[in-house]
Amino acid sequence: MKTVYVLNGPNLNLLGMREPAIYGSATLADVQKLCEQACVRHGLKLEFRQSNHEGELVDWIHEAGRLHAKGELQALIMNAAAYTHTSVAILDAVKGTAVPLVELHISNVHARESFRHHSYLSATARAVMCGFGVAGYGLAIDAVAQW
Ligand code: DQA
Repeated sequence: MKTVYVLNGPNLNLLGMREPAIYGSATLADVQKLCEQACVRHGLKLEFRQSNHEGELVDWIHEAGRLHAKGELQALIMNAAAYTHTSVAILDAVKGTAVPLVELHISNVHARESFRHHSYLSATARAVMCGFGVAGYGLAIDAVAQW
């Protein structure tokens, strides 16, 4: 059974109370449940985590990379949140491990402030999705199950 890593970056622990007009009312625990259900549907194992710390996210990408090297990683689905727009370290971790990445955003970042239009990760991602709300997590798992 292969594993899907779902990594969430800063402030996503506030889902449900954070700018609900943009991010909706579901909590991160709701998102985790949705991901668990999607993984069960496809016979995949789930590692679901959130951190507000860039280095911790980098360490977890390395961990996913070790699984990838053993042929045991289905994909890394990552909502790097604000680090999407700032982090060369996360980009380098994805490049250095060659993990198959889905860059995911709950909101349509292209319809928001211009500083959200640039992503350090998109060029190295196998797929990018945004604007589907938290349903995007389930859709992404449905998609990577076909990889
Ligand atoms: C986000 C969009 C980012 O611009 C923002 O910094 C986030 C969440 C999203 O899921 O829509 O924290 O990644």
